[in-house]
Amino acid sequence: MRPSKFLAALALCAASTLHAETVDRMLLSRGGVVLEVSAPASGIVRIRMGRGKLPEDASWAVPSATRAARLPLKITRNGETVQVGATDIGARIDLRTLRADVLDGGGKLLLADLSGRSALSSEGSFRLRGRMSGDDHIFGLGDKTGTFDRKGGVYTMWNSDTYKFTQATDPLYKTIPFFMAVSDRGQAYGLFFDNTWRSNFDFGKTERGVLSISGVGGPVDYYVMAGPAPKDVLRQYAHLTGSAPLMPQWALGFQQSKWSYKSDAEVRAVAQRLRSERLPSDLIYMDIDYQDRSRPFTVNRAAFPDVRKLAGDLRGQGIRLVLITDPHIAKAPGEGYAAYDSGAAQDVFLKLPGGQYYSGDVWPGAAVFPDFSRAQARRWWGELYTGFLGDGVAGFWNDMNEPSIFNVPTRTMPLDVLHRIESDDFAPRSASHAEMHNVYGQLNSRATYEGLTRLQPDARPFVLTRATYAGGQRYAATWTGDNVSSWQHLKMGVQQLLNLGLSGFSNAGNDVGGYAGERPSPELLTRWFQLGAFMPLFRAHAETGRPDQEPWVGDEPHVEIRRRFISERYRLMPYLYAAAEENSRSGIPLLRPVFLNFPSVLANGDRLGGSEDQFMVGSDLLVAPSPTLESPGDYNVELPGKGWYDYWTGQRLDGKSQLVRPDIAQLPVYVRPGAIIPKQPLVQSTAFVPEGRLELHVYPGTDCHGDIYADDGISMAYQRGSFLRQRIRCEESPSGLKLLFEQREGSWKPWWTGLALYVHGWTADEPPKAVLLPDMAGGAVEISR
Ligand code: NOJ
Repeated sequence: MRPSKFLAALALCAASTLHAETVDRMLLSRGGVVLEVSAPASGIVRIRMGRGKLPEDASWAVPSATRAARLPLKITRNGETVQVGATDIGARIDLRTLRADVLDGGGKLLLADLSGRSALSSEGSFRLRGRMSGDDHIFGLGDKTGTFDRKGGVYTMWNSDTYKFTQATDPLYKTIPFFMAVSDRGQAYGLFFDNTWRSNFDFGKTERGVLSISGVGGPVDYYVMAGPAPKDVLRQYAHLTGSAPLMPQWALGFQQSKWSYKSDAEVRAVAQRLRSERLPSDLIYMDIDYQDRSRPFTVNRAAFPDVRKLAGDLRGQGIRLVLITDPHIAKAPGEGYAAYDSGAAQDVFLKLPGGQYYSGDVWPGAAVFPDFSRAQARRWWGELYTGFLGDGVAGFWNDMNEPSIFNVPTRTMPLDVLHRIESDDFAPRSASHAEMHNVYGQLNSRATYEGLTRLQPDARPFVLTRATYAGGQRYAATWTGDNVSSWQHLKMGVQQLLNLGLSGFSNAGNDVGGYAGERPSPELLTRWFQLGAFMPLFRAHAETGRPDQEPWVGDEPHVEIRRRFISERYRLMPYLYAAAEENSRSGIPLLRPVFLNFPSVLANGDRLGGSEDQFMVGSDLLVAPSPTLESPGDYNVELPGKGWYDYWTGQRLDGKSQLVRPDIAQLPVYVRPGAIIPKQPLVQSTAFVPEGRLELHVYPGTDCHGDIYADDGISMAYQRGSFLRQRIRCEESPSGLKLLFEQREGSWKPWWTGLALYVHGWTADEPPKAVLLPDMAGGAVEISR
């Protein structure tokens, strides 16, 4: 290594001044503590710190190529301060204390006084403190409950099976140690603390204005992202931890689940009913009762004699099967249980320090647990899916992977269970469960995802996981676990999904109708279906032993209302799919708080400019349920600007403020002026090809544009150019409208025979102006009023 080029190591005892110098990382040491600053990408700094030496340069969240990239730093020393300038971000380090300020590219302070040497104890624990700005709101940390804005709260990272969690329950199922701070002016920065151990985030609860991140062990290794807009922070976080791969389109369809449909006949009856009731749907889940004695990777043949035939027959109806496969493998030596026998033969199960298997009770009774920190164990796990894939099962559900253990006070495995890390760029070594607990679910879903990819390289995997760690969005979609059928949960669930979207996880849903507790009232169930229809994953699920709560349960008008909303989701599929595809490239979620699209709303202060109750789907649809969902009282919706449209009537609205009189048959949805929304004729499943024209709904306004994205929905061919992407713009004039179809990208031939254009808002009470057009691979069209 040539020190002057690649590394600036400042000898602190030297009195000489360091002149401006360009390096790609800066190392400082003081009082036995070493600190490194680098910039893996523009707008991002990484700071690592350790006692005696830097922590291991390895991560389960940030791929090695991303960490290895280092942009040039410009270092200037001024007395006892070193200024580090990187592209669009900077840091200022005090040489005596190693305290750090992080600055944006313009030199504005983002986060001050992040503690240096004093953060590290000699026992390996740490407490990092920093000063937050007074008007910052805090979002992220995954699906934790509490308040939507996490400022003033304290949160623990420890993946936990939290049946019937409440607003006060913490920790929950996931560890995503990433947050975004957004000021009232809409300026944002992010911080990702890449440490899998149990840790705590305190956003000014204990000490006003002080951010504190503390933990019992593991690396002090964090990244600050300079934004400046909230969407920039999400792009920067996606640069670090990856964005979700494009899911199969059917994962955006309606998903029906229940613990459990207990027989082949019952599953068929559910599919039949969905079809006969004209409830569009794509998936049915099979929960643990399809298994022989709750043993993962087995089938109870008495109840499910032929999974292949079942999957095949359902496919004929446009319905795919998703099977649960928990990580606990029944400890059943000598019983012909292949998952146990093959795992034991390959020595993949976790062990106690004495060398014997760790065993804990879960659904099958005594169980052993794969060590997913080993590449070989993940490979073994992936191969377990061979049979189910051969049977035509479409996707897999990784549950209980916190990991959850019954009958022990900690509800998980002992901290001294030994994992053997043999993976990625970690040094091969033993690691305690204290280190690996929070990443167990992420590695479980990674093993599933990678296994499916190996077994069916040209199919897009669908994996649903309950527990995960930062970066897990690369492998799986998620849901918020065991919620409760209550109005409070319906509201809280939206905020959980919004915060998940702000934490890298766009592909997320919650159990529609509620999983546990009292049976939902017809109104609650109907409202849940209405909101669920706008969530990224739309999955109805409920606990065993409860009364049925499928969409057809109950009387009219409820069933018809639910049908209408599920159907509307299918009509909106081109819009939703384009937003999902955008997420796979940019990390910008499908479900967005209003401030993500319109940061200026935060300045109006009132419930975060409406972001606490309302939300956006993609860039153009604003959904505005009542702030008190069960209440029949009127409420006001403050739109982020003038000239918005009512989605349901297409009428242009006066003013920013809309008075809503709640009606169980309605959910207010508004459209951004300037939106072009693609819709399709109704189909009962994404497996069925719509017939006729693609609809383009134009809502004239400034910055008028919309996007079309289409491909085969299931394969990886889109990565080889077989897709269609097109931006359409519009310009309004006194005489009419000019539509500009930008040149199409990709070679995919879409299903539509032509375009049906609807221009909204031109006449007060009449239907929109409708124009039929041929398919437009490019070019312009004038529409007169
Ligand atoms: C716990 C999961 O959270 C729930 O969704 C599932 O139904 C049960 N495990 C049974 O598998």
